Amino acid sequence: MEQTQKKVMYSAVQPSGNLTIGNYIGSVRNWVGLQQEFTGIFAIANMHAITVRQSPAELRRRTLELAALYLACGLDPEGCILYVQSQVPQHAELTWVLNTITYVGEMERMTQYKDKAAKHADNINMGLMDYPVLMAADILLYLTDYVPVGADQKQHVEIARDIAARFNNRYGETFRMPEPYIMAQGARIMSLQDPSRKMSKSDENPNASVYLADDKDTIIRKFKRAVTDSDNCVRAAEDKPGITNLLAIYCAFAGCSLAEAERAFEGKGYGDFKLAVGEAVADKLAPVQAEQRRLLADKAYLNGILSQGAERAYRIARKTLDKVYRKIGFYRGE
Ligand code: TYM
Repeated sequence: MEQTQKKVMYSAVQPSGNLTIGNYIGSVRNWVGLQQEFTGIFAIANMHAITVRQSPAELRRRTLELAALYLACGLDPEGCILYVQSQVPQHAELTWVLNTITYVGEMERMTQYKDKAAKHADNINMGLMDYPVLMAADILLYLTDYVPVGADQKQHVEIARDIAARFNNRYGETFRMPEPYIMAQGARIMSLQDPSRKMSKSDENPNASVYLADDKDTIIRKFKRAVTDSDNCVRAAEDKPGITNLLAIYCAFAGCSLAEAERAFEGKGYGDFKLAVGEAVADKLAPVQAEQRRLLADKAYLNGILSQGAERAYRIARKTLDKVYRKIGFYRGE
């Protein structure tokens, strides 16, 4: 597969908490839709995850759960490469090299760093600041063309481009310039309790997020409680962020356009609409959850997919790192 002329898409999710429908709509769902057109390489970013404190047992469990979820959502393990980041040592190695051409000032300006540093003021570790450089290494190792992510990751892809350009400038053409691939719809799903904030797996209020693991009753209850407005008219508008967000979620799960959704709920109240959103989400997630459970019961199969994925990823990553080491003048034993 590595020989095909298809463009490369690379992305990853951190196994750092319970995945939300924001993660699904903004990333994994899109990968599934794009996997025929592109060569897909998808990591489970456990090295990124440890930039905030994790319980080792939970991190291990969530890594396998995420692998099962990738497959349950429909990623084809033959066509794509699915692997765990820490199993390919070149990620850490390239990060070190890229660190030397990245400035502390630019890392301090990263929005996610500032948010996380404020949230984890007792643990502003070097890794937290270095997170975008590790992400640049992920992307650049695989000569990636496109990085399908949610809107919150755009800044990180842009810094990866800056770092790539800087390296190429200094040492000669080495890295391909990656482009963020951000969908027009669903790139920023908002909290159900505060539609001015992003839905996040680390939100302390469980009603703010719908998790991919939630059961139907929970999903319906969370949508029922979602913060909206008092206008009772189902249409997207700037001054109706709650309903606009619910419409984006509905469209993603029911597979329709915004105009179609607005037409379907014309003259209906928020109660009916919220119930329909909850049902659309729950009905779509039920088979994914069942498949994820089935896969998790077959650890040997999952381990096989991940070790095959790590080998395939390693072969590509090693080639790129060899080239980098040659360019920067590292002694290679010749
Ligand atoms: P993570 O795990 O925080 O998020 C995974 C993906 O979910 C998207 N996302 C959202 N999309 C829409 N609405 C939301 N509310 C929402 N919340 C999250 C994120 O944009 C992301 O696409 N740093 C990455 C993981 C990563 C990575 C990479 C991605 C590590 N290495 C290399 C691309 C390429 C992250 O945010 O993970």
